[in-house]
Amino acid sequence: MKSEGLPDHVFDGRPVIGICNTWSELTPCNAHLRDIAEHVKRGVWEAGGLPLEFPAMSLGETQMRPTAMLFRNLLAMEVEESIRGNPIDGVVLLGGCDKTTPGQMMGAASVDLPTIVVSSGPMLNGKYRGKDIGSGTDVWKFSEAVRAGDMTLSDFMAAESGMSRSAGTCMTMGTASTMASLVEALGLSLPYNAALPAVDGRRRTLAHMSGRAIVKLVRENTRMSDVLSRQSFENAIRIHAAIGGSTNAILHLLALAGRLGVPLSLDDFDVLGRDVPLLVDLMPSGRFLMEDFCYAGGIPAVMRELDSLINRDCLTVSGETVAAIAAGAECTNREVIRTMDQPVSLSSGVWVLRGNLCPQGAIIKPSAATPSLLKHRGRAVVFESIEDYKARIDDPSLNVDENSILVLKGCGPKGYPGMPEVGNMALPKKLLERGVRDMVRISDARMSGTAFGSVILHVAPEAAAGGTLALVRQGDDILLDGPNRRLELLVDDSELARRRKHLKKYQYQPLYSRGWAKLYCETVQQADRGCDLDFLVGASGDMVERESH
Ligand code: FES
Repeated sequence: MKSEGLPDHVFDGRPVIGICNTWSELTPCNAHLRDIAEHVKRGVWEAGGLPLEFPAMSLGETQMRPTAMLFRNLLAMEVEESIRGNPIDGVVLLGGCDKTTPGQMMGAASVDLPTIVVSSGPMLNGKYRGKDIGSGTDVWKFSEAVRAGDMTLSDFMAAESGMSRSAGTCMTMGTASTMASLVEALGLSLPYNAALPAVDGRRRTLAHMSGRAIVKLVRENTRMSDVLSRQSFENAIRIHAAIGGSTNAILHLLALAGRLGVPLSLDDFDVLGRDVPLLVDLMPSGRFLMEDFCYAGGIPAVMRELDSLINRDCLTVSGETVAAIAAGAECTNREVIRTMDQPVSLSSGVWVLRGNLCPQGAIIKPSAATPSLLKHRGRAVVFESIEDYKARIDDPSLNVDENSILVLKGCGPKGYPGMPEVGNMALPKKLLERGVRDMVRISDARMSGTAFGSVILHVAPEAAAGGTLALVRQGDDILLDGPNRRLELLVDDSELARRRKHLKKYQYQPLYSRGWAKLYCETVQQADRGCDLDFLVGASGDMVERESH
C-alpha cells in the first residue's frame, strides 16, 4: 500500500476505515460519489483514521436488465465479503440508487462492523414550463398522456431533460429517497442525510462529519447491531408510513432484519403504521419534492412531529438519541410537513392483505390508491406473463372495462426472475382515451416507489411458486376489501383444486440454466421474507478463520 503514497506512520494502528463506494457512470444517481468519498476521507484523516476507498457493484435502477432487484443480493454478498476479507475496522457505505442502499446495508449487517451510511442525496427539483415535476411520478403521468394523445413526444423529451438536471437520486419519495429516509430513521446516518440535495454543499459537510463519526464509532466499538434494534426498525416503519414511503422498502427492511436476527414480519408494517397519519406531502402520494422536504426540516422534523409514536431512546451513529435529534429539529414549512392534527391524510403506510389469493400476504399503498377502489369487486382480465400483457393490453378487442381487475402473473422473485417493477401496469389505451386513470391491478411483481394507483403487489406465494395467483382465469370474480385487509378469488375450493391438478400449463420454466440468476432462482425467498437468498439470512461476523499470509 506504500505504492499508493501512504507513509509509514499511517500504519500505526489507527482505525482503518473502508469507504464502500457504488460510484458508476452507469448509475447516474451515484455518479457524484467519488467527490462525496473525498469529503468522507477528509473527516477520517482529521479524526486520526486511515481512509481506504473500495468499489462495490453499482446497481442503476434505470439501466440494469432484466431488473436491478435481481442483483441486490449479489451486491450484498460482494459487500459482505469485501468488508470481512479486507483488514478494515469500520465502514462508510456510499450509495443512493434504489438497490444500492439496501444491498450495501444487508452485506454490512452480516459482518457487523461499526458502519455509517452517506447517501447520494436527491436531485434538485425537476422543472418544466414553470412547474415542479418529479422523477418517475411525472414520467408515468406524461407517458400515459402521450399514449392517450394528450402530449407530444418532443414535449415529453423536453420534460425529461428538465426533470433530471443535477446529480443525485430521484427526488420524489420513491425508493431511493425512502431508503435514505429509513437509513436516517434507523439511526444509521447523521441527521439530515436523507433530504439534503446531492449538490448542496451541506451534503459534503455531512460526508466530512460522517468520516469523523465513523472513527469515533470504531474507537467506541459501536457496531451496526448496537444501532439496529427491533425498536429502531419500529421507528423506520412508522417513519415509512409518515413519509408515504415506497412499497419496495418493505422488502428491504425485512431482508435487513433477517441479516441481523431482528424479529420483523410483514404484518408489522400494517400494525405499526396503522395509527400513523401521512405527514409529508411529497409525490407520488402528494405535491412536493425532496428539495422542499429538505428546506422544511427533513426527517428530524418528522421525528419531532411523531413524538411518542417513535422509540425516542434509540441510539444513532451521531452519538445522539432520536429524542435529542427530534428536540433540535424545526419544521419551517407546514405545507410540506404537516402536524399530527392536520395530516395530509389519515391513511398512510401499507395495508397487508390476506385471503385465498395471497395466503402469505400482499400489499397495497392506500395513500397512492383511488379511495373508491379500495373496496372493489371485479372481473379478472388475466395476463400470464409480462410479454402476454404487452402483446394484448392495447388490443381494441380486449374484453375489459373500468371495473375489471387486471391480473399479471409470472413477475415474482422466481418467476421473472427478480420481481421487476411492473405491477403498476399501464391501463388499456381504449380506457385511457375514455378518461379512465386508475383500475385495481394485482400481481406478484413490485412497483416503482415513484408510481401510484390502486395496485396490489408482492402477492405471495407468487405464481411461479404455485401460489393461487397461478390459478386465476379470465372472468373470475375477485374481491378487494382493503379496510378489512381481504383479497379473495371468488372461486370454489373444489374448482381451485381441479385447476391446481392441471397447473402444469401455468408453470413457469426458469429462463436461466447457469450463473447468478440460476442460484438466485433456486434460493430466493418469497416477498413476505424480503426476497433474500435463503443461505444469506443471518450473519457471520467479522472474524476470518484462516489466512494464508
Ligand atoms: Fe436511481 Fe431513481 S433511478 S434513484
